[in-house]
Amino acid sequence: MTDQPDARPETPSTLLLDERDGVLTITVNRPEALNALSPTVIDELRAVIDGVRPRVGEGSDWSLRGIILTGGGEKAFIAGADIKQMSAMDRASADAYTARAQELTSWLEELPIPVVAAVNGFALGGGCELAMACDFVYASENARFGQPEVALGLIPGFGGTVRLQRFVGAAAARELIMTGRRIDAAEAQRLGLVSCVFPTPEALLAGAHAALAEVRAQSPLAVARSKATIRAVELLSPRAGLDAEREAFAACFDSEDMREGTTAFIEKRRPSFTGR
Ligand code: CAA
Repeated sequence: MTDQPDARPETPSTLLLDERDGVLTITVNRPEALNALSPTVIDELRAVIDGVRPRVGEGSDWSLRGIILTGGGEKAFIAGADIKQMSAMDRASADAYTARAQELTSWLEELPIPVVAAVNGFALGGGCELAMACDFVYASENARFGQPEVALGLIPGFGGTVRLQRFVGAAAARELIMTGRRIDAAEAQRLGLVSCVFPTPEALLAGAHAALAEVRAQSPLAVARSKATIRAVELLSPRAGLDAEREAFAACFDSEDMREGTTAFIEKRRPSFTGR
């Protein structure tokens, strides 16, 4: 993490925040620019995610169990980095911009609760990259994905060269990035980028809430450790990954949640998890 302080506006100017039933919905709300990720949007997202941290994870009260990230308006999830603002950047300011955005994507991956990208329209460039840093990518039928940076004389800069191949494999990632081709929700699902497609944006949000309601019934500790282990394993060789999984699995046996979960199963009752 950088030691640069974030801007922490009381009320973000580019985001809408709505929290209920332990789920925070973050809507990037610049519909006039198809929710493009200006430096302000990046900083406001960073401030929100940073503010969530004390409420989740081991030792917290687990008052938040999931996050939904979506886009405001009818047309877009996020149409990418803000091209108008980027056109005025030089190499040094672009480097700082991408560093802050890449760090945000890592923060999403490191958060001990699931983050659902509810992709309700264009998810292009940085928008597709932000979605790929989330745990579940859900889409409505009108969603369109792509990494069109080559048309701008750019390459993906918010993690796309790394993450797209994890989702779709190197062959499809090379083709999508080098052609800049846009794909619809059905093709994104076929390629493995999207795990669930819903007929409408309303059904999409309902589906995201339903998934997080399922998560809410599970041990918060076990969900957090699953996410952390999947991430750790991705960064390791298969052998070291198995070792990391074995260690994390064995560590669950020290937790109250594991004792409660297994006892509740045997006693044929619902578990009551504390996240400890
Ligand atoms: N940045 C800034 N403004 C954007 C934007 C972006 N990424 N995408 C759209 N807008 C703005 C448009 O300029 C337009 O503003 P004005 O009304 O002031 O002209 C407004 O949003 C509506 O857009 P369009 O009129 O273009 O809408 P459309 O329906 O005709 O087309 C679209 C929609 C196909 C998504 C088109 O807007 C488009 O191609 N946008 C750019 C997509 C793109 O190239 N994204 C990648 C950016 S680079 C990047 O993200 C790098 C990285 O990896 C970090």
